[in-house]
Amino acid sequence: MQNTKPHAALLSSPGMGHLIPVLELGKRLVTNHGFTVTIFFVTTENFSKSQLLKQTPCPDLLNIVLLPPVDVSSLISPTTGILAQLAIMMREALPQLRSAILAMEFRPTVLIVDFFGTEAMVIADEFNMLKYAFMTSTAWFLALTLHMPTIDKAIEDNHVKNQQALLIPGCKSLEFRDTFEPVLDRNDQMYIEYKRMGVEMQKFDGILVNTWQDLEGTTLGALEDEKRLGRVAQVPIYPVGPLIREITPGPKSEVIEWLDMQPIESVIYVSFGSGGALSAKQTTELACGLESSGQRFIWVVRPPIEGDSAATVFKTNHGTDDTPDFLPDGFLTRTRKMGLVVPLWAPQTEILSHPSVGGFVSHCGWNSALESIVNGVPMITWPLYAEQGMNAAMLTEDIGVAIRSKSLPTKEVVGREEIEAMVRTIMDKGDARRARAKTLKSSAEKALSKGGSSCNSLAHVANDCETAFK
Ligand code: UDX
Repeated sequence: MQNTKPHAALLSSPGMGHLIPVLELGKRLVTNHGFTVTIFFVTTENFSKSQLLKQTPCPDLLNIVLLPPVDVSSLISPTTGILAQLAIMMREALPQLRSAILAMEFRPTVLIVDFFGTEAMVIADEFNMLKYAFMTSTAWFLALTLHMPTIDKAIEDNHVKNQQALLIPGCKSLEFRDTFEPVLDRNDQMYIEYKRMGVEMQKFDGILVNTWQDLEGTTLGALEDEKRLGRVAQVPIYPVGPLIREITPGPKSEVIEWLDMQPIESVIYVSFGSGGALSAKQTTELACGLESSGQRFIWVVRPPIEGDSAATVFKTNHGTDDTPDFLPDGFLTRTRKMGLVVPLWAPQTEILSHPSVGGFVSHCGWNSALESIVNGVPMITWPLYAEQGMNAAMLTEDIGVAIRSKSLPTKEVVGREEIEAMVRTIMDKGDARRARAKTLKSSAEKALSKGGSSCNSLAHVANDCETAFK
């Protein structure tokens, strides 16, 4: 049968934080626009296929191609940061991507790459495909990325040398404490890669971004102004979010059964994303702060960064119960009635959408932030790496759905008293941030519904792809 709709290839870099929104984007192109979609996912050595399958919405809708791990050991040094490693992995995976596309009978005519995959566009050029980037973070981070080539001197002179706020034209300034670390060292490989990505994206047919008009209208407006002024290239920008993992029906997990028994908005959920971990000292302070807050909690616990393996989560200590070594002695027994400690990974979207959850201590990965907002859950921000400091600043000061610690990122640890106070504040039913989160929940629903801004934005992209296909 003749295919009447385009085939889009989507390329995701390693990491659930990238793959999850890419999968959701693919799913919408299939269900709302009738596209055929193939997701190419660059895997790493420690990649778990079963975890991927758990996260995959309606796998029968999407053709998922796992590109085998590439050996980049000779291309990196012990000091190469994780972001630079990702960029290198993506580059090294390109020959596999090219061969896979070449072997396809129904050849894709559109290539959509996430942030780290911009170099794949040589393949799009070779096969005459439309080229889109998908920024899985905020429009504000996109603005920083697109302005990088022109503001790098200001970064060096003011931001790095004098620790002054960085002016991103038309947007909220970036305070030094919230900075995106790769911009701080122009000799670092990631600085060079990041600047390159900002240049390359401006040559694409469009950039999709996981936000929506009402959430980041000022920044999106500023980007349009900058295009008019010629300081950013005329690349169309499409806010298509919030694209978050939809819950697929299935048997209830233990965590959800526990939540079913708790009162409305009584539980604070604590999680640091797909890979975040705290120091041993910080883990102790967090445990004590949660316990003394008296609040019900679910805490996704990872062994402290000083620990050597995930297996230690299950190792018991020499204390009085099964509490692992890195939690205060007897913690599990004392908090048994009030909390759940979940090792390593929890069904986050299911948790955040449960009516018993009333707050979220989050590392502010953008997916986590969106999952919180679309469920009307206010946050305590606890950024760890990448652009999470920027996300925390925006959630706290611009969007008004979160509070943040006075100690981060300057002090070594956030103390138990401060944690206890923050938990009490965010769980207060009358707190303004809760009301704001609920307003944004409706705004997100509206953006995605028929005729909403994000729905229209994606339809625009789909139309352009169809026109080129015919
Ligand atoms: C990082 C960045 O910080 C983020 O902003 C960027 O856009 C992608 O990479 P990450 O640490 O992966 O993010 O966090 P996040 O963006 O929040 O994504 C994690 C995803 O994994 C979320 O969708 C979350 O629901 C899911 N998750 C995480 C679980 O389902 N269970 C867990 O226990 C932890």
